[in-house]
Parts: sequence; C-alpha cells; structure tokens
Amino acid sequence: MCGIVGAIAQRDVVEILLEGLKRLEYRGYDSAGVAVVNSDNSEFKRVRRVGKVKALADAIHEEPCLGSTGIAHTRWATHGEPTEANAHPHISKDRITIVHNGIIENHNVLRDRLSQKGYVFTSATDTEVIAHLLESELDKASDMLSAFQATIAQLEGAYGTVAMDNQNPDHLYAARSGSPLVIGYGIGENFLASDQLALLPVTRRFSFLEEGDIAVLSRSDVVIYDQAGTEVEREISESDVVHDAGDKGPFKHYMLKEIYEQPIAIKNTLEGRIKSGVVVEDIFGPGSSEILKGIEHVQIIACGTSFHSGMVAKYWFEEHADVSCNVEIASEFRYRKSKVHPNSLLVTISQSGETADTLAALRLAKEIGYQSSLSICNVPGSSLVRESDMAYLMKAGVEIGVASTKAFTVQLVGLLLLVVAVGRHKSLSKEAERDIVSALSALPAKIEQVLDMSKAITLLAEDFADKHHSLFLGRGDQYPIAMEGALKLKEISYIHAEAYAAGELKHGPLALIDADMPVIVVAPNNELLEKLHSNVEEVRARGGLMYVFADTGANFKSDSTMKVLAVPHCEKAIAPILYSVPLQLLSYYVALIKGTDVDQPRNLAKSVTVE
Ligand code: F6R
Repeated sequence: MCGIVGAIAQRDVVEILLEGLKRLEYRGYDSAGVAVVNSDNSEFKRVRRVGKVKALADAIHEEPCLGSTGIAHTRWATHGEPTEANAHPHISKDRITIVHNGIIENHNVLRDRLSQKGYVFTSATDTEVIAHLLESELDKASDMLSAFQATIAQLEGAYGTVAMDNQNPDHLYAARSGSPLVIGYGIGENFLASDQLALLPVTRRFSFLEEGDIAVLSRSDVVIYDQAGTEVEREISESDVVHDAGDKGPFKHYMLKEIYEQPIAIKNTLEGRIKSGVVVEDIFGPGSSEILKGIEHVQIIACGTSFHSGMVAKYWFEEHADVSCNVEIASEFRYRKSKVHPNSLLVTISQSGETADTLAALRLAKEIGYQSSLSICNVPGSSLVRESDMAYLMKAGVEIGVASTKAFTVQLVGLLLLVVAVGRHKSLSKEAERDIVSALSALPAKIEQVLDMSKAITLLAEDFADKHHSLFLGRGDQYPIAMEGALKLKEISYIHAEAYAAGELKHGPLALIDADMPVIVVAPNNELLEKLHSNVEEVRARGGLMYVFADTGANFKSDSTMKVLAVPHCEKAIAPILYSVPLQLLSYYVALIKGTDVDQPRNLAKSVTVE
C-alpha cells in the first residue's frame, strides 16, 4: 500500500528518499515519485514513474536532481489508474507539493469547489484536491501552518499527508488522521515516513504521530500540535527494529527466505516467554496475568491471514481453556451492531499493526464497552500496539513478502501461549500446560523436518502449474489451515483456490470434483482422522485427484488418484502450525513455476492502511 518518505537536511536528500522508498517496496505499489527543492529555493524538481522504484531511480540517475528538502511516495492506486499523471507528489500552481496515503472521502465536493475557483486538475486522484486546497488557503491565511491546519480541517476520511511549500523549503508539514506517520530525528536534519523501516539508515530515534496530530519539521526542530491545535510532546524512543530486507541470502525470494526463517522466528518468540516447562507470567504486558484471570470470553478481530490464525485460536480456546471465543473479520465487525459478553477480552491480530479495518474495529470495540484489549502484532510502536491495553510483540523479524508466512506461524505461537495464560485459571491442568509448552519447544525442530520436504513438494507443484482451480480440505483446527493454504495459493500463483471443512463437501462442493480440480488435504493423526478418510473416499469415488499431507501414522497410501506426502508426527496442539508450512511451500513452488511476482503479487499490498 502507499508509502511516504520525507526529509529536510543540510545535505542532498534524494538518495535518502529513494532508499526509503525501496524499503517500503514490500508493501506493494504501482508507481513512485520524488519531489525535491534546494534550501535556497533555486531548484524544484519532481520525477514520477509507473512501476518499480528502480525505474524512478534510473530516471533520476539519468537526469540528476539535487535538493535538501523533499518528499517521496509509492502509490497503490485507489482513485485513478496507475499512470504517471496519477503518481504522487501532486503539485498546485508550482508552489505546493503533496504526498498522501489513504482516502479523502469528500474529494468530489472539494474538487468541484476548487474547479469553480479556477484550479485545473491534472490527475484523477483524490490527493490532488489537497494540493489545490492548501494553495487556495494560503491566500487567506497568515502563514503556511495556518493554511495547512485550515486544509486538514476540511478533509474527511482516513489519511496521512505531507506538504512542502516550494517557496519556503525550510519546513515540511505533516498530518495524521487514520494513516500512520512516524517522525525520525537526526542531528541538524529530520525525517518522516509512513513506516520507520524507511528511515533506519538515517536515524533510530522516532516518535509516532497520534490521531489528529500536525507536525512541522525544520532542520533543527520538530513541533507537534494535537487535534485541538495545542503544542504537544510525543515520546521519542530508540528503535531496536532490525531491517535485513537488503539481503535475501541464498534465497530467490523473500517469501522463501521467510518460510525458512520460521524455526528461528519461533525460537525468538518463545525466548523468555516459556521457562521450566510453563508459560511465564505477564508476557502480555505488566499486570496482564491478573487481567487474564478474570476473562470469560474472547473476541478476536483480524483480516486475511491474521484472521485465519484467529480461527485456529477459537478451536484452541474452547478445547484447552474452556473459554468461549468468537472470531470476526474486522471489516464486518466494524460495521455491525455486536454484543459485548461480560468479562470479555478483545484480541486483535495483525502482522503490521496498521491495518485500517482492524484498527477501526479496535476503536469501535472500546467504544461499545470492551474493557480489556490485547494486540498480537509484529511491529513495535504500531498503532494497534499503542492503542491496546496489552500487547504480544511477535519478534518474527521483518516480513517483506506480501504473502504472510512466518508472521502467521508466529501469531499462532503467541495465540497458543495466550490460550495457556487464560486456560490455567480455568480448566487447563498443570500437566496439560507442560505438554503444550514442551510441544512448542519441539516445534522449531519439527518445522526443520518439514522444510526438508521441499524437494518432494517441488515435484508436486509441477502437477498444479497448469490448473485453474483447486480445493483445500481440513477438519477441526486444520480447517483454518486449509483456508490459509488456499489463500496463499491464490495470492501468489493466481490459481483459484477454495477451502472447505471436509465434512461440508457433500453439501455442495462435491459437484466441482473432476480430474482438473486438484484437492489438497491436510491430515494429521487426530480424533477426526477416520472422518477425514471417509471424505477422501468421497472425492476418490468422483474421480478427483488428491494431494494429501498426512501424519506418518495416518495410514494414507499413494496410488493413481492420490499422492501422499508424509509430515512428521507432532503433538495435536501444534499440528495447525506445522501443517501450514508444507502448504506455504506448495504455493511458493507453484508460483515459481508460473513465474509470477512472488514477493509482490499483482493488486496486493503488504500493509492495508485503507479500508
Ligand atoms: C495474506 C496476508 C493478508 C494479511 C491481511 C492483514 O498473505 O498477508 O491477508 O494477513 O492483510 O494484515 P495484518 O496482519 O498486517 O493486519
């Protein structure tokens, strides 16, 4: 999704802006642009290109431009096609330059009004209205700050925006309303971005703008005003985020690297959180154990892959902790009336911590009476973490591939720890807790064994590359894993994939079965195995071709209609985590054969900051 970088310094900032954009590439975008102005205002230049940041960098290197103040942007099209004319930055009357993330909902009204005043629009974007509106406010206001404040007051929607006055390049103006912005502090230079990752080469000192904040950056200073226009301090913290995006190591894609990082990511997330066979107290934040003691119901909210981890957690909460649990897609939850159960815990799950729907759902949940909220999140300092009462920081390491892999399995580990932390005050025995903790400790080694299946999965992928549809089946806590497997396949290989709870086949989807519709089955050795065997026979009887990832003891045998890949035996509690790994590998190798853009699949974005 869109990315913003801004810099004001005593040196040329073009390379800083380009590097920042490169670091935001993983979020998904379709065009990019930079605008810079010299501190003596002798030169203003804007360069925009459709496609990758590399195309923009090549254009700049061919015709170099210099500037000590500048803003840059990667655009993920919402209003208007991905063309150069629609790419940011947008300019008004050669004076005001704007970049913007999010959506201005009242852009049509503003566009009409500004057109009547004589402003000529050169793009189909909602962003351009901000540039012209600010330019028009400058006529009335005493200074740029008042004009910027007056402009922001007229915008409706969720956005983050940065403005540069080409005639006064000693300041940058930024506003946050629903879309994140972080300020980076240097010495004699300051920066801003939509994600701290963009600024790590130039600073480690950050503060996060809060909702409604406006910031004015100069080379020596950053002044922040809150929604009411009062000058405020926002805490500056030292970031320990590690960004290793520049290095794929021996891997062809970040996605594969991240799949292989799962054993270490799981070790990291468990570090200090389990000890002597039990889950350590207060791992969800100071005082969290006391809060979790009183929990009688859990409401989980998330989107996409994170929603699937929530679905697994529902099975776990009700089985191990004897606590009722609902899971809902954030974009549904936020637009309906829902009932708050007494003593509920609201859990949001998000890799990025900035997903607009999840954030809005959290805010709504607080409004309607949820007393305790917990975020399971991979990005420290993200909006979800800051706005939740408690947090589990996943420590999965930065995830660059748009298709989430290690974040998913690490979310599941965090959720299983939460189930134990809640369940130990309910029906979960000490012995059961020890079993789960011991299974989690063994998980990294089990995943290593699954990664060794890579060669066999590569061969299997060849059967898929010419297919247009596929079906994923699982039962119980493997049903969400089938859903996640289907999502991964469609995201990166563009093959249509649907997931069903295997028992549901006969209620409709069986009609789809033929030799052109591969059926992928996840089959650990659990109490549902016999039922699953029957479902497999239903498919076989209708001429379906199956690919079964099965526990070594699950008694499936390869034949002309079924290829079986043996998955090492594991404890029941961790099976959903383990079985997601071969499905990730399958999608990856299918996409590789199809030659798709694995790390940045078409139309998708990593951090979905618009609704
Ligand atoms: C799919 C994927 C998405 C995200 C979803 C929510 O591979 O990554 O479905 O899970 O956009 O994002 P987060 O977890 O950042 O809230």
